[in-house]
Amino acid sequence: MSPLLRRRDTTPRTSRLLGALLLVAATGALATGAVPTGGTADAAPAPRPPGLTPLDRVIPAPAVVRPAGGPYTVTPGTHIRVDGDPETLRIAEYLADVLRPSTGFRLPITDRGYGGIRLRLADGPHGAEGYRLDSGPDGVVVTAGKPAGLFHGVQTLRQLLPGTVEADTVQLGPWRVAGGTIEDTPRYAWRGAMLDVSRHFFGVDTVKEYIDRLALYKINKLHLHLSDDQGWRIAVDSWPRLTSHGGSTAVGGGAGGFYTKADYREIVRHAASRHLEVVPEVDMPGHTNAALASYPELNCDDVAPPLYTGIKVGFSSLCAGKDVTYDFAEDVVRELAALTPGRYLHIGGDEAHSTSHDDYVTFMDRVQPLVAKYGKTVVAWHQLSGATPAKGALIQYWGMDRTGDPEKARVAEAVKNGAGLILSPADRTYLDMKYTEDTRLGLSWAALVDVRRAYDWDPGDYLPDVPASAVTGVEAPLWTETLSEPGELEYMAFPRLPGIAELGWSPAATHDWDAYKVRLAAQGPRWEAMGIDYHAAPQVPWPRD
Ligand code: ACM
Repeated sequence: MSPLLRRRDTTPRTSRLLGALLLVAATGALATGAVPTGGTADAAPAPRPPGLTPLDRVIPAPAVVRPAGGPYTVTPGTHIRVDGDPETLRIAEYLADVLRPSTGFRLPITDRGYGGIRLRLADGPHGAEGYRLDSGPDGVVVTAGKPAGLFHGVQTLRQLLPGTVEADTVQLGPWRVAGGTIEDTPRYAWRGAMLDVSRHFFGVDTVKEYIDRLALYKINKLHLHLSDDQGWRIAVDSWPRLTSHGGSTAVGGGAGGFYTKADYREIVRHAASRHLEVVPEVDMPGHTNAALASYPELNCDDVAPPLYTGIKVGFSSLCAGKDVTYDFAEDVVRELAALTPGRYLHIGGDEAHSTSHDDYVTFMDRVQPLVAKYGKTVVAWHQLSGATPAKGALIQYWGMDRTGDPEKARVAEAVKNGAGLILSPADRTYLDMKYTEDTRLGLSWAALVDVRRAYDWDPGDYLPDVPASAVTGVEAPLWTETLSEPGELEYMAFPRLPGIAELGWSPAATHDWDAYKVRLAAQGPRWEAMGIDYHAAPQVPWPRD
C-alpha cells in the first residue's frame, strides 16, 4: 500500500459561496466605477466580490490599467467578432466555449458588424505575447500583434467577468466588464510550470486539465519531467522496455503508466491550442534507475537493478564510459525531438551523485551536441554549470536562498558566458513543498512554502552577479513523490502557482504582497466554479461565505 497521506489540511470549500454571489448579482448590489490602482493592505477579509470586477483585479497584474467610462455588458445579443484569421477564429471559439455554458447565450462568432466582443490582430507595440483590451458600453476589443497576445487578452477578459462565468451550467449574471483600457506585455519570455509524471503517472486528460489552468495565468511553457528513477513515461520505439518495464510502476508500488507517441502528440496539440510550448525532460545521467532496470547494458557492471518505488535520490547513473550509453541517449533525443515541435529539450543533469565529476563532464560534452544535432536547444538543471553548458543552453536554477555562494557563482559565470537562466528556487517555487507543517501532502526539505513566500521575491535580483536582463524567466515545478491524484496537484498548485505566474509576467513595479493577496482572494470564487480543490490559505482574505 502506498504510504501517502491523502487527507486535506483544510476542508474543501463548498458551493455556498456561489449561491451568495448569485444573490448579490440578482439583488443588484453591484459595485460601480472606482478602480483602486495600488490595492489596499487590509487585514480584514475582503467584502464579497462585487459583480463588477475592477480592471486591475487580474492575475498576473497587467502592466498598464486606465479605468474610464461605463462597463460593457455581455447580453443574449452579444456577438464575438473576428477578422478572418484562422487562429483568431480558434481563440474566439475557445472564448465562446468558456462563456456559453454559464451565460446561456448563443454568442455567435462572425466576421461582420460592430460592437460586442471583438478579437483583432493588428500591428502595434505589444510584441509576441502582449495585447491591449478596450472596454466600454459598446463592446470589448482585444487587440494584439500575434495570436498568443489575443489568447492572453482573452484570459484577462475572462477574469474581468464574474467567477461564476467558469461554471458549466447557466448562472444569473449580469456579465459586466469594467470600462477602460489595459495595455499588457510580459516581463519574461519563459513562464513555465513543470509536472513530474515519473514519480506518479498522470494520464493525458489530467495533463490537459492542468494545461487549461496554467493558461488562465498566462503560463507559456509546460515542462514535463518524463523520466526518473521510479518510472520512464514516454514511448521510445528503439528501446521499448523503457516503458514496458521501466514505466510499469511508481512511487509506492502502484501501476505506473506511460504516454504512447499519440498520447504525447495529443498533449502537445492541446498545449499549443492554449499557447503553451511543451518542454520534454529526460533526466540524465542520474535519476535513471527506470532505464537502468530496463536495459542491463546501460549499467557499468551489465547488471540491471530492480525497479525502484521509494523516494531517495542520487543513487543511479548511466555508465559514462560506455558507447552504448550515447547510442541510447541519441535514440532517445532523436525520437523525442521528432515528437516535439517546440525549441527545447531538457536533459536533466541534477543530483548526479553517483556519477564522478569527470564522467559527468564527459557525459554532458557528448550528449549536449546530440540535442543540437536534432535541432533543439539544451535546457538542464543548474548542475550543468559545473560542466560546460552548450552555446545558448538554458540553465534552470533550483537552489535556495541558503545555497552556498560557490554554486551560485558557477551559475553566474555560466550566465556571463551566454547561458540563459530559468529561476525555480526550491524554497520559493517548488509547488510540492508543504504550505505549513500541518499540510498533509508534499515534502519540506527545501522549506515550508506558504503563499506569501512563493510570491514575495524578485526574479530580477535573485542571484548575485546575475543582472535582471540575463534572466530568461521563472518556472514552478510540481514534483509528485507524495501526489497521485489530480485533486492533489490542484491543492498544491493553487493558490501558489498564480504567484509564480505573476512574477513571470508582471512588471516589477506592480509587485506588492498586500495588493496581490486581494487579487488572489478574488480568484477563489472562480476556482470554486471551476471545481479546483485549492488550499484556502489563511494568509489570503478570501471572500466570506
Ligand atoms: C531537483 O529538484 N532535483 C531538480
